[in-house]
Amino acid sequence: MSAIQQLEELKTTALAELDEIADLRRLASWRVRYLGKKSRLTGILRGLAGLSLEEKKAVGAAANKLKLTLEEGFEQWQQALRDKRVLASTEKEGIDISLPGRFQPAGRLHPVTQVTAEINDIFISMGFEVVEGPEVELDYYNFEALNIPREHPARDTMATLWVDHGTDGGQQPMLLRTHTSPMQIRVMEKVPPPLRIVVPGKVYRYEATDATHIPMFYQIEGLAVDKGITMADLKGTLYEFARRFFGEDRRVRFRCDYFPFVEPGAEMAIECAVCRGSGCRLCGSSGWIEILGAGMVHPWVLERVNIDPEIYSGFAFGMGIERIPMLRYGVDDIRLFYGSDLRFLRQF
Ligand code: PHE
Repeated sequence: MSAIQQLEELKTTALAELDEIADLRRLASWRVRYLGKKSRLTGILRGLAGLSLEEKKAVGAAANKLKLTLEEGFEQWQQALRDKRVLASTEKEGIDISLPGRFQPAGRLHPVTQVTAEINDIFISMGFEVVEGPEVELDYYNFEALNIPREHPARDTMATLWVDHGTDGGQQPMLLRTHTSPMQIRVMEKVPPPLRIVVPGKVYRYEATDATHIPMFYQIEGLAVDKGITMADLKGTLYEFARRFFGEDRRVRFRCDYFPFVEPGAEMAIECAVCRGSGCRLCGSSGWIEILGAGMVHPWVLERVNIDPEIYSGFAFGMGIERIPMLRYGVDDIRLFYGSDLRFLRQF
């Protein structure tokens, strides 16, 4: 049989066999058999060298043509089998496995949530425990027990959102807490000293909105009560916090301040991150940003919760959380945090 005839025959059997193949594994072995190194076709192509020039031309052309035909047949059949498999599984499972996957956007924590967790961690490492409390509060905890009676002018500094009909069995006015300090009372009422807690959470004030004020914001309260706690413990704790959070090089300022539930009272400020002290919109041209109020728990407050101020003393502090990422990242408008603009939020 001439080489040309052999090639013809090869083509007929190979293609006939291909037609019968129903799975990809058998297709692969078909390829090895007809196109592999040990196939007859490859043998014929190798044998070309021994042929006369004329035969070489004719047989070579026919062999190469067959090779192409078989390769094409293979590709087409393979695609057909794959399509069939997709179709079959789609029918069986009711899903189309050939559809591209759905994009899953990765979520991330809000910058305020991230910063809260970081602040918590710093205080946890100093032995504080994290607790949370109610946002709808009684007048008693938000004001009364904190030495802010009804006619006290300090109430004016915390414009209050009162809750309509919100009364404790008709007895007590209710409100949205204006600070996290009510948790000082709630905890001291229940837990005997020694205690060290931080309380992160939302607080509300009925205020006009601007670059540094919004009606809902976050605070973290801190409270430590034990025998022999002094102002030095308060300063040491807060300086350590500032160093850990803002870095060694950021300047910190500690000054006297007044809050009815502490004596003496203080406020702590951090050098402005935007202007580094020279004055800008963020810091109201002062170069400093107040981040917290603090002080020694007022003996009157301790008595109120049946802790003897002759035996125990404590310190407390409360800081606004948003101001902290503002200082750290140089964000000059607090409203950006709650504007839901992902271009802003994705930066953190
Ligand atoms: N609760 C005060 C405020 O919101 C801050 C503060 C907390 C001050 C604890 C002293 C002690 O302004």
